[in-house]
Amino acid sequence: MRHFIFAVILVAILTVLVIFGLDQIQILPEQASLQAESIDWLFDIHFIAIAFLFSLIVGFMLYSIIFFRRKKGDYSDAEHVEGNMALETTWTVIPLIVVIGISFIGAQVLDDVQRVDPQALEVTVVGSQWNWRFEYPDHGISSTTLGLPVDQQTLLTLTSIDVIHSFWIPEFRVKQDALPGGEEYYRELRITPTKTGEYTLRCAELCGTQHAYMLADVLIMEPDEFDNWVEGLVSSVPEFPEERGRLWAEQYGCLACHSTDGSQLVGPTWLNVYGSVEELQGGTEVLVDDDYIRESIRNPGAQLVTGYDNLMPADIGADLTDEQVDDIIAFMQSLSE
Ligand code: CUA
Repeated sequence: MRHFIFAVILVAILTVLVIFGLDQIQILPEQASLQAESIDWLFDIHFIAIAFLFSLIVGFMLYSIIFFRRKKGDYSDAEHVEGNMALETTWTVIPLIVVIGISFIGAQVLDDVQRVDPQALEVTVVGSQWNWRFEYPDHGISSTTLGLPVDQQTLLTLTSIDVIHSFWIPEFRVKQDALPGGEEYYRELRITPTKTGEYTLRCAELCGTQHAYMLADVLIMEPDEFDNWVEGLVSSVPEFPEERGRLWAEQYGCLACHSTDGSQLVGPTWLNVYGSVEELQGGTEVLVDDDYIRESIRNPGAQLVTGYDNLMPADIGADLTDEQVDDIIAFMQSLSE
């Protein structure tokens, strides 16, 4: 009995130390959304459970190793134990109750995280290889930075034009896949940022060679700052076609695969490509002019340049208007001497 009490004290001390240690190393990133508060609460319960279970096993083990080790010259067998009904019942029933309890708490947190605010700001998130675009239907703007007001719920509607991507801002905790396939596959995610500042959105689903670089800036602002930010985007659509073309090329993800400085990405560079003569797969040649570019955007893969696979998503041009395509052509033209 004395041994048991000492071992229990050892387990208690170890538990406190492990909880303290886990707390010190700050295992979770900054907490910056309302949803994160509920989720972290659940995490904290888990950390305490983990600290206790670790200490329970390691504590009794350490105690036994030290105090019940074989004495010198003792070659007798240990006492043979057939089983212990009380102990086995206990270690079956207690975990059962704990797991059922956690499932209830988990369901409650899930409910919290998905709570609907009818006043939520609506933003459509479009993922593509390897770019994020954010559309604000209420304001008629789109952006490659996700700007949001603080302390207001945002309803994100996520979609993808090619493969599965995953929307993840660690500071907000919640995560959701963006699926291709149109409206039927739209997914929703609600976030309520609680701290202003800059964060990084990352793609959390392996989606091709540039997956690791599929990042976007997230800017959480005071409501009046947010209004100014929206205003700035409304009035910042450039006057000249080639400048607008650069903006569309950024927003619609063209520049994730086509460089503008001659460097080699998965698609041909746009530097000096307009007006050049390229060899196509099959051996024919083509002049890169307005018609060729228009066709390559609307129908990627119809005329592939030698040395490149058709990695361009079939629908990438579907959201671009004819005017936007003309702007992009003007931008490409401006990159050729
Ligand atoms: Cu998109 Cu990984």
